[in-house]
Amino acid sequence: MNMYDIIYKKRQGEALGKDEIRFFIEGYTKGSIPDYQASALLMAIYFQKMNTEETYLLTDAMRHSGDVVDLSSIKGVKVDKHSTGGVGDKTTLIVGPLAAACGVPIAKMSGRGLGFTGGTVDKMESIPGFKTTLSEEEFLDLVNRIGISVIGQTGQIAPADKKLYALRDVTATVDNISLITSSVMSKKLAAGSDAIVLDVKCGKGAFVETVEAAEELAHNMVNIGNADGKKTIALITDMDQPLGNAVGNSLEVIEAIETLRGNGPDDITELSLTLAGYMVFCGGKADTPEEGRALVEKALTSGAALEKMKEFVAGQGGDPGVLEDYSLFPQPSYSQEIFSKDEGFVTSIDARRIGLASQHAGAGRERKEDDIDLSAGLLLSKKVGDKVKPGMLLATVFGNDPDRVKKAAEEAYGAFRISAEKPQMRPLIIKVIQ
Ligand code: URA
Repeated sequence: MNMYDIIYKKRQGEALGKDEIRFFIEGYTKGSIPDYQASALLMAIYFQKMNTEETYLLTDAMRHSGDVVDLSSIKGVKVDKHSTGGVGDKTTLIVGPLAAACGVPIAKMSGRGLGFTGGTVDKMESIPGFKTTLSEEEFLDLVNRIGISVIGQTGQIAPADKKLYALRDVTATVDNISLITSSVMSKKLAAGSDAIVLDVKCGKGAFVETVEAAEELAHNMVNIGNADGKKTIALITDMDQPLGNAVGNSLEVIEAIETLRGNGPDDITELSLTLAGYMVFCGGKADTPEEGRALVEKALTSGAALEKMKEFVAGQGGDPGVLEDYSLFPQPSYSQEIFSKDEGFVTSIDARRIGLASQHAGAGRERKEDDIDLSAGLLLSKKVGDKVKPGMLLATVFGNDPDRVKKAAEEAYGAFRISAEKPQMRPLIIKVIQ
C-alpha cells in the first residue's frame, strides 16, 4: 500500500477502505507520511467527500492514534459537552458548574482558540493562577472531590487530530463534514465520558453555514457516538451573531460568572440552561431534558452553580477572589468605542468579523505559536434586533496595543448591518438531534 494510490483513489471519487484509512492515519501520526501528501488527501476528501462508512472508519482510526482515557474510577455517568466552535461561546464555563451542581461529574478536556474562534483553555488561563495542565491523578481526584475538572487536551489524546487539525487550518480544509465529524468524535470517544452533548454551531460565525449542513454533521456525530454505546445528543444552534456580549478571554470569563449570578445576556443564559438540562438528562439525574432544565434553573437561582464555579477555580489553583473582584483579571490599557452612524435596527452582526476583530485586538493567535493578550476583546452594546440612533454605542474594543485596538474597531464596525426594517429573528436553538 502506498500514499500515492490512496490519494489517487480518493481524487477519482472512490471510497477508501479500512486498511487504507488506517495506513494514512498511522503513517501521518508517526511522521512517515509527509504534510504534502496528507494535504493532497485532505483536499481530495474535501472535494470528493467521504461516505458514512469512511467517516466512521476515519474517526475510529484517529481515536486509536493515541491513548483512550479511563474514567472508570469516577463514580456516576460522566457527561462531556463539545461545541463545534464559535465566537463568544463561553458555555463550557457555565454548563460545567451548572451540571456539576446537579450531581453530574464533568471530566472535560478542552481546546485553545484558533483563527477567529475562541477556546476554553485560553479563557480559563485569564484567571490568575489557574492551571490548565494537571496530572491524570489530580484531574481524576478533582472530579471525585468537587465534581468538575476541565483541562487542556493532552498530546496523547487523538494525536492524529492534533496534527491534522493544524494542517487543515492552513490548507483551507476545515469546513468538511467528514473531517469535522472525525476530528470532534475521535477526541470525544478517546476522552472517556459515558455521554456526549454536542453543540453544533450553524451560521456565519461557524464552520457550517446552512441548517442542512449542520443537520448532516449532527446526524453523523450522533450516529457515531451512539454506535459506540455513548448516549449522544446534538443541538443545532445559531451562530450568525456572536453569543452573548463579550468576546475575548477575560471578558468572556467575567460574562460566564455574571451568567452564573443570574445576570447573563438572554442568549447565553438560554443556551446554557438548555445544554446543561440535556447534560443532566444524559447523566441520568433527570427523566427528561425538561426536568433536567428545571434542575439546572434551580442550581442557578439558588447560587449552587456559582459556588461550584468557585470550587472549580480554587481546585485548579486559580484565585477564587476573581468571582467577586473582576479587577483581578488582566486589565487592558486601551479601549475604543464604536458608535452607530445610522438610525434603524441592527439586522446582523457578522460573527466571523467580530471574531477576527477580537483576534486583531490581541485575543487570538494569527499563528499557533503566538502569545495572546488575555485582556483583549470586545463588548457588544447592541445585538441583532436592537433599535439604534446615530451616536449610540455599538461596541467597545479593548487591548494593550493602540494600533491593534484601532484596526479591530474598524473591523468590528464593519460587522454591523443597520437598516430601517426590524429583522426576522431565527431561534437560538434550531433543532435537537437525538
Ligand atoms: N472543532 C473540532 O474539534 N474539530 C473541527 O474540525 C471543527 C471544530
